[in-house]
Amino acid sequence: MNQKDKNLEKTAPSKSEESTIIPVEEDKAATGKKQKTSADTDDSDQENSNQSELKKQGMENKNNNSELEKFFLDALQDIYYAEAKIEESLAKIKHKATSEELQEAIEDHELVTKKQILRLEKVFKHLGEEAKKKKCDAIDGILKEVDEMVKSTKDGSMTRDVAIIIGAQKVEHYEIATYGGLVQIAITLGYEKVADLLETTLDEEEETDYLLTEIAEEHVNFEAAEE
Ligand SMILES: [Fe+2]
Ligand SMILES: [Fe+2]
Repeated sequence: MNQKDKNLEKTAPSKSEESTIIPVEEDKAATGKKQKTSADTDDSDQENSNQSELKKQGMENKNNNSELEKFFLDALQDIYYAEAKIEESLAKIKHKATSEELQEAIEDHELVTKKQILRLEKVFKHLGEEAKKKKCDAIDGILKEVDEMVKSTKDGSMTRDVAIIIGAQKVEHYEIATYGGLVQIAITLGYEKVADLLETTLDEEEETDYLLTEIAEEHVNFEAAEE
């Protein structure tokens, strides 16, 4: 139900109110129709003009100031921070990969991540919010572990690539879980454009995860087993 319907719903009398309401309200209850009052019409006209103004600015209308709305914004700030940290980490790790194929895959994902950061900025803009970062302990922890895993392997070894792939997949899975949830919340809150933007990123993370699995299964794991 959109906000307009919710507002109209509030004007419809509940069963317990039926006995005390004035005749026109009884008529409304009897027919089961939610009739608009002149005040509703004015509100609805105002709402329509607000919505078209927001559309002109490329923004979507905020439904309300609910707890879910705040949670959603918080989660966006969290992943905005995470993407920036991931970009830094990919820039460092690409030089550490042994195989050219993995190096290229990481370089590609670094570029994709830059675009994802810009896409998140678009999301904030659509919501009429400032793009802000919120420290994400989860990604800091995962990236610290990836760093340690990579350091525990020898330079120029295929076991190094195994470690990078597993580490990168831990990051991808964190992102997939986050974007998967965010897309669903955006849909629930009625932010269609935002849901589309977040879904594009979700697809990219899934493709990267798939590509990393392919690289591992096709040769990296076998070559590492020979070391
Ligand atoms: Fe990402
Ligand atoms: Fe990613």
